[in-house]
Amino acid sequence: MEIIRTVQGLQKAVADARSNNRSIGLVPTMGALHAGHMSLVDRSLKDNGFTVVSVFVNPTQFNNPDDLRTYPRTEEADCRLLEAAGVDVAFIPTVEEMYPQPDTRVFDLGPVAQVMEGAMRPGHFNGVAQVVSRLMVMADPDRAYFGEKDFQQIAVIRRMVEIEKLPVEIVDCPICREPDGLALSSRNVRLTPEQRAIAPARPRTLASGRADAADGNSLRRTVEYVTDTINSFPGMEVEYYEIVDPLTMQPLSEWPAEGGTAVGCVTVWCGDVRLIDNIKYTVKPQH
Ligand code: PAJ
Repeated sequence: MEIIRTVQGLQKAVADARSNNRSIGLVPTMGALHAGHMSLVDRSLKDNGFTVVSVFVNPTQFNNPDDLRTYPRTEEADCRLLEAAGVDVAFIPTVEEMYPQPDTRVFDLGPVAQVMEGAMRPGHFNGVAQVVSRLMVMADPDRAYFGEKDFQQIAVIRRMVEIEKLPVEIVDCPICREPDGLALSSRNVRLTPEQRAIAPARPRTLASGRADAADGNSLRRTVEYVTDTINSFPGMEVEYYEIVDPLTMQPLSEWPAEGGTAVGCVTVWCGDVRLIDNIKYTVKPQH
């Protein structure tokens, strides 16, 4: 595996791979890699002849300076994992290399970016669009891989790709969870043992919300049930829980028609750690 820190180096490696008729897969990450990231990497390795994984903690998407400062950075361990997986290039640029000049672009991301994470973290999705569009221009991939854990992020990236007319296929990959249901996240390492012990209450409650929905209860009732149940655990506070349309991200007030899908998206504060998760609800026929 080659570790590349410059844009020029990346472009050369990709051009060489292309001249050998290899398709290019890009997996953008902010490092502190875990099995969730590696599931995207494995998928790219399967689909493509050449896989680039970027490791870059992108300052423009952090709306909270403390979150940026405390974001875990584990470059050596990340490189060991990527090398063992068989990745071709780890692209690890500095902030100056990624942004020689400040990026002042404002993307018209539309309604998908205005709700949930977009409403709670002003500027966050614009920063994600800035860095991912740069990475896509630099690595010129055939496919780019994103996890459904950040469900809204995928919709935002699809929109950015459409605006910028980038010839990249976006591949979404399922959420990877710990055996007890907790969605893998780089921020999990910041949980105290007590917080970690009760953390699975969140995915468990989301899943029982699914049963609640299947029982024919109203969407409003499921929202209340999930919110109240998670809030009842000590030290957990729901920032938002919305059941949304999987394409538009707009909150629903009623369940979709039979056979339709909706996605319940939750953000919970565990002390000062903010964790997100989501679950798909498929509306079953009522008898
Ligand atoms: P990061 O949080 O490092 O996540 C990188 C990719 O891994 C994202 O597509 C995310 O959805 C995916 N991922 C994280 N945890 C996952 C899990 N438990 N199961 C499946 N996939 C998971 O998301 C970002 O970085 C940044 O916003 C980025 C897109 C790299 C732009 O800076």
